[in-house]
Amino acid sequence: MKSATCIAELRDIASRKVPRAFFDYVCAGSYEEETLRENVDDLRKIKLRQRVLVDMSGRDLTTTALGKKISLPIALAPVALTGLQYGNGEILAAQAAHEAGIPFTLSTMSICSIEQVAKATGKPFWFQLYMMRDRGFIAELIGRAKAAGCSALVLTVDLQVLGQRHCDVRNGLSVPPELRLSNVLDMATKPAWILSMLKSKSRTFGNLAGHVKGMQDVKSLAEWTATQFDQALSWNDIEWVKGQWPGKLILKGILDIQDAKLAVKSGADAIVVSNHGGRQLDGASSSISILPAIVDAVGSGIETMFDGGIRTGMDIMRALALGAKICLVGRSYAWGVGAGGKEGATKAIDILAKELDVTMALCGYKRVVDVDRHAVERFSHGQPPGTWT
Ligand SMILES: Cc1cc2nc3c(=O)[nH]c(=O)nc-3n(C[C@H](O)[C@H](O)[C@H](O)COP(=O)(O)O)c2cc1C
Repeated sequence: MKSATCIAELRDIASRKVPRAFFDYVCAGSYEEETLRENVDDLRKIKLRQRVLVDMSGRDLTTTALGKKISLPIALAPVALTGLQYGNGEILAAQAAHEAGIPFTLSTMSICSIEQVAKATGKPFWFQLYMMRDRGFIAELIGRAKAAGCSALVLTVDLQVLGQRHCDVRNGLSVPPELRLSNVLDMATKPAWILSMLKSKSRTFGNLAGHVKGMQDVKSLAEWTATQFDQALSWNDIEWVKGQWPGKLILKGILDIQDAKLAVKSGADAIVVSNHGGRQLDGASSSISILPAIVDAVGSGIETMFDGGIRTGMDIMRALALGAKICLVGRSYAWGVGAGGKEGATKAIDILAKELDVTMALCGYKRVVDVDRHAVERFSHGQPPGTWT
């Protein structure tokens, strides 16, 4: 693991160490996985401009997110069930992020709870919220995030109904979850994973267990959650959320210019241009193909963050060039956690940071905050996703 040279290698290691059902859960996209593939492919179609004989000494990767200085233009995205990739996965990833000086986002559907992550790290993190119909529960959950010192609330707005991932159904990761003999046999061949799970502080949905009346186990909590995603959620509810949460608010899952403008109007501090990593609306545009138009539409009215398809530092450079303030990274770090817990998460961050640093230098930039659209070719392959005129 220590010698892994790129994210693809971490993914290969995770594929050997993590039980198949949980590994597939991370990799998959919804339905035909068109949007999942295009997130990655469209980034790679964007050509970076090689510049030479520019003084590249003393480079600086620091930037800001929500007014706070961070050491890289990266945040770890909310990834449900990270604690099933490796025992205590959320705590270990949060520790890796804090040591790297970047934000960590805890999913509502995490295995380790808000309180467990806060206690183990002692540092603020971002909390991701799925709105549920039970507003009493949500108010309490937001209160717990406040009490734990979370520094931003990331409200996910692209999951009022659930896209299907075929492999999850086949693997028994459906609602209710099924523990199949084939899964048990597969887990038995992953001793390091078993060991990590034995040490885990939680083996169920940490933020829900003990807070939903009469429900503790994964099966009943998964069933409860599936009935709770609020299909009636609308822009009017943002006001309600802001009433509960006076701090920084990020809306995650914006993929349309009109919605981006509404997000500015809503008074949110930031948006994440995102299609949930190709796990929701299959057939939606790749995130990167929409990013420049959204940035142009909202201007400086809101902080525009980006996710979807980041597998290399070169991808980060492309997204920054097209106007992203920072990139959220999902699968790339989840594979790191699966490959080796905290060390794996650290390795993933390190790989992305080093690739970005070299890429930035070879594009002729010293400071990440100076990266702009001149870092990418204006016209490549006719009218590619990166076309910005
Ligand atoms: C396994 C997995 C679980 C996820 N769980 C959540 C979640 O609980 N909440 C959320 O807002 N987004 C969730 N996402 C979406 C990510 O936050 C992010 O938008 C996406 O992974 C970005 O794409 P990338 O994986 O290509 O980097 C999840 C993504 C994956 C891969």
